[in-house]
Amino acid sequence: MMQPQKIVVIGTGYVGLPAALLLARAGHSVVGVDINDNIVRAINEGVLHINEAALQAIMDEPAVRANLTAQATPCAADVFFIAVPSPLDQRKKVADLSMVVAAVEGLVPYLRAGNLVVLESTVPPLTCRELLTPILERSGLKVGENLFLAHCPERILPGDVFYEIVHNDRIIGARDAHSRKLAAAVYSSFVKGELLETDDVTAELCKLMENTYRDVNIALANELAAVAATLGIDARAAIALSNRHPRVNLMEPGIGVGGHCIPIDPWFIKEVDPANSRLIFAARMVNDEMPHRVAARVRQSVRGVPGPRIVAIGAAYKPNTEDMRESPAVHVVELLRADGYDVAHFDPLVKGMAYPDTLAKACAGADCLVILVEHAGVMAELDAQRPEIDRNMRTAQVLRF
Ligand SMILES: NC(=O)c1ccc[n+]([C@@H]2O[C@H](COP(=O)([O-])OP(=O)(O)OC[C@H]3O[C@@H](n4cnc5c(N)ncnc54)[C@H](O)[C@@H]3O)[C@@H](O)[C@H]2O)c1
Repeated sequence: MMQPQKIVVIGTGYVGLPAALLLARAGHSVVGVDINDNIVRAINEGVLHINEAALQAIMDEPAVRANLTAQATPCAADVFFIAVPSPLDQRKKVADLSMVVAAVEGLVPYLRAGNLVVLESTVPPLTCRELLTPILERSGLKVGENLFLAHCPERILPGDVFYEIVHNDRIIGARDAHSRKLAAAVYSSFVKGELLETDDVTAELCKLMENTYRDVNIALANELAAVAATLGIDARAAIALSNRHPRVNLMEPGIGVGGHCIPIDPWFIKEVDPANSRLIFAARMVNDEMPHRVAARVRQSVRGVPGPRIVAIGAAYKPNTEDMRESPAVHVVELLRADGYDVAHFDPLVKGMAYPDTLAKACAGADCLVILVEHAGVMAELDAQRPEIDRNMRTAQVLRF
């Protein structure tokens, strides 16, 4: 068992905060560092700023409160975790690593011989070698000799973070064996899944491959659904029947792809090898086009209705979460509103977007109810209140995708 370490976690958002909590629970002395004052204050007050009930329970444990503090700037430590955003530069479609660079530059003055730096942020291949290593070596230390660097990408599922952060298998990527050994020791203090050691570039690419696999397969399902629509057949039924083949597992079609990872990470592969990323690029195009197709279906459904009123349900990027990042549902509503349509947009899981009463009441006088995100609670209400919904609507039309 590893001795308790002093660990600085830079960036205490969806990824960094759960790691900080579990490291604190494992007995390490943890300092969360965030440039957002509200987050620093919330952590110091023991308030969770992400919506994960199981994590709030951990935050409330006395040992965690004693071992975890937060502040705005880094300090000296044994181990540094970096979990800051690495968004897509939307214009150039390449990784914007400015926050990763700022975080790494910010910790250079605090580095000492023997430290381990763990990058959890998702990055294009070769980032550890070509971008991070030269910055870290401004400390006068040498990566692989007296300073250690690992890339351990995060795979957690928002909404089920606590289970996944503990039980998922974890890739531990580093160029040298000692960095791998140190990083594996830190993760073994809270991960029950297997720790899979590899080099840094493989680790960087694996994370991107995982999300690209999902993006390409979702694009395939969306494309097949469009073909089924052209043929006038039920796409979901066709997919369910095809999946009875023992080696076929088609994914579900939908309204597009959202979230912090799947619509972004494939671009990081194309960035390093565009010539070999043609399928990846095509899938991105197919999925990005989906909100336009959905908006077209809604327009078609209210064609001829004077002053149509649309009620759209769902703003999160996927069911049963409040996370709206890169949400295709939001994009659909933006497209319809830009065309001048009257769209009431609700999401019972998103703060400030809940319908005031019941789903049936929210639909009063509407000409089209569009279910953009199939949250379990919404679908239960839709089932239970369907007759009342149909009675309350001016034109009883419900669209699902
Ligand atoms: N959210 C997910 O489900 C998920 C899953 C896997 C990987 N990732 C990756 O993990 C990384 C972090 O994502 P996230 O979802 O936690 O982002 P987030 O926005 O929830 O949190 C990042 C935090 O970093 C802080 N920050 C930014 N620059 C900083 C700096 N220089 N110093 C200190 N704090 C700083 C921000 O204020 C923010 O609180 C990204 O690379 C993302 O792609 C996210």
